[in-house]
Amino acid sequence: MRNFDLVVIGAGPGGYVAALRAAQLGLSVACVEERATLGGTCLNVGCIPSKALLSSSEHWAEVKHLAAHGITVGEAGFDLGAMMARKDKVVGDLTKGIAHLFKKNGVEWLNGRGTILAAGQVQVGDEVVGAKNILIATGSEPATLAGVAVDEEVVLSSTGALSLARVPEHLVVIGAGVIGLELGQVWARLGAKVTVVEYLDRILPGADGEIAKTAQRLLQRQGLAFQLGRKVASVTRDGAGATVTLERRDTGAVETLAADAVLVAIGRRPRTAGLGLKALGVTVDARGFVAVDGQFRTGVAGIYAIGDAVPGPMLAHKAEEDGIAAVEGIAGHAHAAPDYGLVPGVVYTAPEIASLGATEEALKEAGRPHVVGRFQFIANGRARAMGATDGLVKVLGSETGRILGAHIIGRNAGELIQELVLAMSTGATLEQVAASSHAHPGMGEAVKEACLAALGKPLHA
Ligand code: FAD
Ligand code: NAI
Repeated sequence: MRNFDLVVIGAGPGGYVAALRAAQLGLSVACVEERATLGGTCLNVGCIPSKALLSSSEHWAEVKHLAAHGITVGEAGFDLGAMMARKDKVVGDLTKGIAHLFKKNGVEWLNGRGTILAAGQVQVGDEVVGAKNILIATGSEPATLAGVAVDEEVVLSSTGALSLARVPEHLVVIGAGVIGLELGQVWARLGAKVTVVEYLDRILPGADGEIAKTAQRLLQRQGLAFQLGRKVASVTRDGAGATVTLERRDTGAVETLAADAVLVAIGRRPRTAGLGLKALGVTVDARGFVAVDGQFRTGVAGIYAIGDAVPGPMLAHKAEEDGIAAVEGIAGHAHAAPDYGLVPGVVYTAPEIASLGATEEALKEAGRPHVVGRFQFIANGRARAMGATDGLVKVLGSETGRILGAHIIGRNAGELIQELVLAMSTGATLEQVAASSHAHPGMGEAVKEACLAALGKPLHA
């Protein structure tokens, strides 16, 4: 029997990063992955292919607005097959890159489905390997809707919606969350009529309400239609399309939508069934998340879990940080328990939507005294020069100037939020961010201005 200090199950951003770091710390490491390629959901069917299509479709959408910059182009067109091939190449290059990193760092890839026979033993195909420590990094899969069968032809999960062979005439998206908005925008830009149906009365639950409202307005302006406060009663295939039956939550009235394609994007659930956890005595909650402590230890000695398989934001960077903390703990290096309140979330639509920490609603609900500072990009010189004036920076602080939350909607919001992540993580105050030099002309000046506004001394407002 081959023996390893650590066997990681799952090679997503949580598992592969953990495997690399553990090897760098001197542990002998194997990583079990059943896919034919490494990188998990994120690289294969998540973050990377969705961003590749967002980027391609954004270039196409921009062609129509080049006249504003004094540029005329001849007849423009796009080749969906070529766009998909580019996306597949980006994914292929990155997944091969991880295989290369595994080789370079001496991580053994065991290609197959892993199950845990006992603490210290993992089965992969016919082989049983010994593992001083086991790290569950099996990630997540799309949640399903009762009575709605995903066939990846007409009724799609995010995976199917990343590989359509033609642009649907009418795409109905169920769920106005991150996937619904990102992939809805891709197909709307490429010419589909897109209707987003949402159970709640708002889009992007969890995001700051003001920012979500702004996002809805801007996305509607781009052609996305929203039907909020609707419960999906059924989705039935008929011929080449499907009929989506909805129930209005306020009146109970029943409505139907005829669709060429339906994307079910109502959340993701952990992939922890079939690993043998119950028999081992590992605690799994009703939704399938593995219970862990601040060091990612399950209740069973030598078994750890991270990433989408444990509670917390279901995000790639969170999974990576979990993985690093878990293996540093295993290798005997002290590591503080993670603070998920400092994990930024970014929706990569145009405009991008970035959030960090508390929302204004949450602070109000908690009765927590706070100050708010806003700065609209329309008043920012760089945004004007680029023609990216939609959106704003909003910061929330305590009365003593501690940053409690930050929410940005606008071009490059996902990069702009990083300054505030660092500020919040290191305890830098509104005053300190406002006092630091921000290059001119830059979108980042709007972050400085929002902090100044929160302090009651706005400059350009
Ligand atoms: P995963 O990436 O899900 O990896 C788990 C791996 O384990 C998989 O490869 C699976 O095959 C393997 N596995 C499972 N069970 C077994 C087993 N028993 N044996 C062997 N192998 C097994 N997050 C972001 O931060 N930014 C984004 O822009 C973003 N975009 C996304 C877009 C889409 C369309 C989707 C679906 C998700 C997106 N996410 C994004 C979320 C992100 O992909 C996940 O949070 C992240 O991949 C979780 O990492 P993980 O390592 O925990 O699990
Ligand atoms: P989500 O949780 O973001 O959104 C799901 C939406 O569906 C919610 O608005 C919810 O109210 C709605 N909903 C649930 N049941 C419904 C029903 N029966 N009918 C109508 N609406 C319903 O989940 P999503 O978009 O599927 O994404 C899954 C996960 O993947 C997210 O947790 C996110 O963290 C991650 N992700 C992250 C991305 C990023 O960071 N850019 C991109 C894509 C996914």
